[in-house]
Amino acid sequence: MCGIVAYLGEKEAQPLLLEGLRRLEYRGYDSSGMAVLNGGGLHVLKKVGRIQALAAAAEITPLHGSLGISHTRWATHGEPSDRNAHPHVDATGKLALVHNGVIENYASLKKRLITEGHTFTSDTDTEVLAHLIGDHFQKLPANTPSRLERAVMAALREVQGTYGIAVIHQDEPGVLVGARRGSPLVLGIGVGEHFLASDVSAVVAYTQKAVYLNDYDIVTIDRNGFRVSSLTKQSAGFEISAIDFHQADADKGEFPHYMLKEIFEQPQAIQNAIRGRLSHEDSTAVLGGLNMDAKELRGIDRILVTACGTALHAGIVGEHLIESIAQIPVETDFASEFRYRNCPIDRRTLVFVVSQSGETADTLGALREARRKGFRVLGICNNVGSTIARESDGGVYMHAGPEIGVAATKSFTSQVTIFALLALLFGRMRYLSASQGREIIENIEKLPTLIGQVLSQSERIKAIANKYAKSSSMLYFGRLYQYGVALEGALKMKEITYIHAEGYPAAELKHGIIALIDKNTPSVFICPQDSVHDKNMSTIQEIKARKGPIIALATEGDTSVEAIADDVIWLPKAVDYIMPVISSIPLQLLSYYTAVALNRDVDKPRNLAKSVTVE
Ligand code: G6P
Repeated sequence: MCGIVAYLGEKEAQPLLLEGLRRLEYRGYDSSGMAVLNGGGLHVLKKVGRIQALAAAAEITPLHGSLGISHTRWATHGEPSDRNAHPHVDATGKLALVHNGVIENYASLKKRLITEGHTFTSDTDTEVLAHLIGDHFQKLPANTPSRLERAVMAALREVQGTYGIAVIHQDEPGVLVGARRGSPLVLGIGVGEHFLASDVSAVVAYTQKAVYLNDYDIVTIDRNGFRVSSLTKQSAGFEISAIDFHQADADKGEFPHYMLKEIFEQPQAIQNAIRGRLSHEDSTAVLGGLNMDAKELRGIDRILVTACGTALHAGIVGEHLIESIAQIPVETDFASEFRYRNCPIDRRTLVFVVSQSGETADTLGALREARRKGFRVLGICNNVGSTIARESDGGVYMHAGPEIGVAATKSFTSQVTIFALLALLFGRMRYLSASQGREIIENIEKLPTLIGQVLSQSERIKAIANKYAKSSSMLYFGRLYQYGVALEGALKMKEITYIHAEGYPAAELKHGIIALIDKNTPSVFICPQDSVHDKNMSTIQEIKARKGPIIALATEGDTSVEAIADDVIWLPKAVDYIMPVISSIPLQLLSYYTAVALNRDVDKPRNLAKSVTVE
């Protein structure tokens, strides 16, 4: 949600900023801008629309200089427009700032600044922060050491809300200041150059070394290096981390879209999620990152899973996995609800937060609320070094590689796979024998091959997508393990095609949804050969009796489904508890090809951001 890139080095900043913004475009893409400092002063360029619009403007009016800040926006305060785009400048026009987050007390600060003579040209909370820092800067004597850093600190002490910021000032032409609270900010350390960015994908082409800043950290970069100080402590520590992926991982390769590339990466992503984590000797999962010994894990008698969007759907599948395999009660909840309701958690409850980005504000809020109450919180994250990963008591990394397409795909199947590992681990501490554990391991290990088989049907799925692409509404049905998959399938369809879609537990059909069935409303029915297959067949009959078209996902060779469905996507034979990892993939492809048929912007669907770092 909003992407920041800033550069201080020896090269021309503009091309580096533009390339960084392209890498961060998944975070927001309604407008963008940059400000560059050189001997001639501060130059700002901003454009509504995609980064391409900014790049085109920069080609006509290039900004020269080796110090610059830039931003790609996902609007919170003020509509997308040139004037609301970042950077924003202060009253003197000498300071420029980019911001990710929300300044909650901006209205009262703005009122005060207006009475002091400031005038504002945008509707944003960010412009208020630019003026506030500028005001403090002006009040400090010109020869004050670290004048910009001090002004930033003084202003941030007055601010409530969340921010990741980068600031430059014409009167301190060799200095770049960054700060964070609640919104991510990373320092990239290159040779003779430094970067600030919302995430490492913007800098990985130039360096493999990064400092993940903590809340209340202020980083001041000049031509000699950088230092990290703290808004709340006397001194701030920092750690230089190695970035764990390379530029090629974040490129599209031969695929037309990131989403398709990431769908096809799933055999590898699942392999990465299980690598080194299955012990044949002990017939269990090995998850050292949980930071809990066997006794502590054995003491857990309830699990709470909280997350947003796709990650919550993975949690809903995880609930079935852990309850069925390990017989531990599991509850799932929207992170945005959990953080504000007074949920009773007793001392034997373990909380899991699930987040691909590790930066989702609601999920982070839920984590902090649970930890504030003194509970142990474990994270399931993809982004190494993300805030959620760092603030959790332990957890499991997905190792799925960068996910750039705004619609989550490989992260979902990786999260579900990790829940299968957890179910195995907890199950083997309770009711499962060694041979039962071994059987589960063997099934989990089949996943990459089975995923490969389902991916080989992409042409068939494309034809089905083309057939139904003109639908205005679609329904998704599944039961037990497939209910979470139905929710996720419907979310994918909504997100990237803008077709209305809803997921339901199949038997709910008769409790209202049946009123929506007609010949123009296709139902996607996930109906593998499992314990509720016969029940699902009855529900399919009820839909057919009302002329509703059926796209069925059925186990290979299931002639009973083939006889009644309008179209069938075949699933390879697999046990019920690994099937969600397989059955979710055709639904990703169905949404993808529908979006392509409708000429949608697959990787950057309207109004969405991949990482929602505001509430
Ligand atoms: C946003 C994205 C969703 C994503 C959700 C949670 O809403 O648009 O695709 O599932 O955030 O993201 P996280 O990074 O926490 O998994």
